[in-house]
Amino acid sequence: MTYKNFIGGEWVDSATAKVFEKTNPADTSEVVGEFQDSNVQDVEHAVAAALRAYPSWRLTPAPKRGEILYRAAQLLMERKEDLAWQMTREMGKVLVEARGDVQEAIDMAYYMAGEGRRQFGQTTPSELPDKYCMTERVPIGVCALITPWNFPMAIPAWKCMPALICGNTVVMKPSPESPLSMYNFVEVLEEAGVPGGVVNFVASSSSSAGQALIAHPDVRAVSFTGSTEVGRQVAQTCAGTFKRLTLEMGGKNVILVMEDADLRLAIDGAIWGGFGTTGQRCTAASRVVVHKRVYKEFCKGFVERARSLKIGNGLDPSVEVGPLINRKQLNKVEEYVGIGKEEGASLLCGGEQPQGEAHARGWFYLPTIFGDCHPRMRIVQEEIFGPVVALIPCENLEEAIEIGNAVPYGLSSAIYTQDVNKAFHAMREMETGIFYVNASTIGAETHLPFGGVKQTGNGHREAAVAALEFYSEWKSIYVDFSGKLQRAQIDS
Ligand code: UN1
Repeated sequence: MTYKNFIGGEWVDSATAKVFEKTNPADTSEVVGEFQDSNVQDVEHAVAAALRAYPSWRLTPAPKRGEILYRAAQLLMERKEDLAWQMTREMGKVLVEARGDVQEAIDMAYYMAGEGRRQFGQTTPSELPDKYCMTERVPIGVCALITPWNFPMAIPAWKCMPALICGNTVVMKPSPESPLSMYNFVEVLEEAGVPGGVVNFVASSSSSAGQALIAHPDVRAVSFTGSTEVGRQVAQTCAGTFKRLTLEMGGKNVILVMEDADLRLAIDGAIWGGFGTTGQRCTAASRVVVHKRVYKEFCKGFVERARSLKIGNGLDPSVEVGPLINRKQLNKVEEYVGIGKEEGASLLCGGEQPQGEAHARGWFYLPTIFGDCHPRMRIVQEEIFGPVVALIPCENLEEAIEIGNAVPYGLSSAIYTQDVNKAFHAMREMETGIFYVNASTIGAETHLPFGGVKQTGNGHREAAVAALEFYSEWKSIYVDFSGKLQRAQIDS
């Protein structure tokens, strides 16, 4: 099937008349669909449509906008199973996780629908008599939303739902690895009653469409999730026109396992955090720092569990780990495994592709664990985005925190301990935007701010009320009903 772009309320072909193929990473002989290979001209049309739709969407009462989002949430819920199935086929995450991904979009839709009746501003006393002061949120304009493939419906929803409830219009560009999930999402929005031009969808196999979108003078805000490397370029482009920009980038998230931890629970967390979504989450637990007193026991249990994970096509309900997204990602993982060996880390399991007919046509890689890693090794410092976990022994809590913080990123971290003092100490000291106690580094909920410090982000947060901060501007309003000139700071 050939899927079209969605511009100004119409499903249209690209001006290039070219399409690109999307294949299933678990079986690359299966074509999932063909998508429009859009260029700068398509982007121009989409931004123009979003700009045209903006004045009336901005003035649509927010509770009415909320009703449309509510309807979208209901439609997503009705179609959850089918949407999840299509997502697994498109990008490989196992079905149970794909359902979670759709659920995250549903949660965000319901949550932001409610914000249609909140979006609270403030009223505050004036320093002068007979004068009234208040603040209100106002939309920004056309927003460009550039999304990755690893959460192909959740992340578009994180960006789109708050943008819409605040009264903005959007142009969305999916990763070429996951256009179908965004297509399905946009189709739901259309059916839910989002007016033409309010949401526009442009697929492309190259980065030029995305670049044209973020550089476009009529785009007022950009939300990007992807690598730190690309994020830096996006920031430079946006700086030229002072666009509002939110960046969600890399991570090198850590689990700290203390000597008093419930090891069974810590191993569950390390398995789920390290190998869930085949390690392709920005929140993945790619480092585990373990107290030397329990290091051996932890390693043994962790490796045993990792070896027993079932790898394969995520549509098979017994499969626990799906494929990597593409050959490039597989090459990157292989390269880092080579680097880890050269650096002198001990390969405890994995380190190769699984053999056999079932894995012959997909980008599979075995869950891989490196033991006895040094905090400065590249496999400990750099984001791999695959099923590779580095174990680092430590002497005590202080050292664990120091190692945990000694990376350029700061998205998520976790501690396993029974000691409330240790938990609170780490909670205060860890330089991450998200922190977990006795739970893994993944599992963010939509009503809490999501994002990180250091090279993970640029100071904004997604989800929660924090998303409203990004997708709206504050307007401060003063109403003087004294009937005379009153001068602030001058007339007492
Ligand atoms: C991401 O890894 O890109 O907390 C997003 C989690 C998910 C979102 C992850 N709810 O892992």
